[in-house]
Amino acid sequence: MIVVAIDGPAGAGKSTIAKALALKLGLRYLDTGAMYRAVTFAAINAEINLTDQDLVADLTRKSEMVLTNDAVFINGLDATTAIRGVQVTSAVSAVAMNSQVRTELRERQRQWVTDHKGGVVEGRDIGSVVFPDATLKVYLTASPLVRAQRRVAQSGGNVDEIAQGIAARDAQDSSRSDSPLVQTSDAAIIDTSDRSIEDVVSQLLKLVLAKS
Ligand code: DC
Repeated sequence: MIVVAIDGPAGAGKSTIAKALALKLGLRYLDTGAMYRAVTFAAINAEINLTDQDLVADLTRKSEMVLTNDAVFINGLDATTAIRGVQVTSAVSAVAMNSQVRTELRERQRQWVTDHKGGVVEGRDIGSVVFPDATLKVYLTASPLVRAQRRVAQSGGNVDEIAQGIAARDAQDSSRSDSPLVQTSDAAIIDTSDRSIEDVVSQLLKLVLAKS
């Protein structure tokens, strides 16, 4: 079973590259950030205080999530657009810090890979915690300016403001106690700042094929 773990900070190109790689390998793609975002969306909708760890965890365990390549549903609601909005984006780190939520989502991510007989999985703790035995671990990164510019090109906004938001989220994701964003020593570290998607995908394809 082939499992490719793709980790890295926001705006490093993870989603685009993971999707393209999955297509080339004939595997499914899982965006684990979308799962944290979907829980955040559901908690906001239910008017749950996001700092109430037990309540948010309880909601997570009870929630039904469906993730396809281009849509996210939680408890029957289409959350695809809302999970990329400012409200969810600014609140998601608080949910991602909740260890009970992480335990539940991690289990679902492992189950998803078992059900789909492998996959390309992107997130922050995929190679370090969720799939420590992944076929290939990749840590994608890019300069802060390039990452902010990519987000603006994708969803609009002001580069400086987006850069500040990204830096704040990176700091929270890297400093939390439970499964922070880290580079593992066995990951291929790739800076995507000055490279095309095709170029990175073809490099990753070679790396996967060499290992499988
Ligand atoms: O990749 P993204 O920006 O959609 O991720 C949303 C948030 O979820 C971000 O704060 C990092 C967090 N996250 C995480 O803690 N662990 C993952 N495996 C994926 C995302």
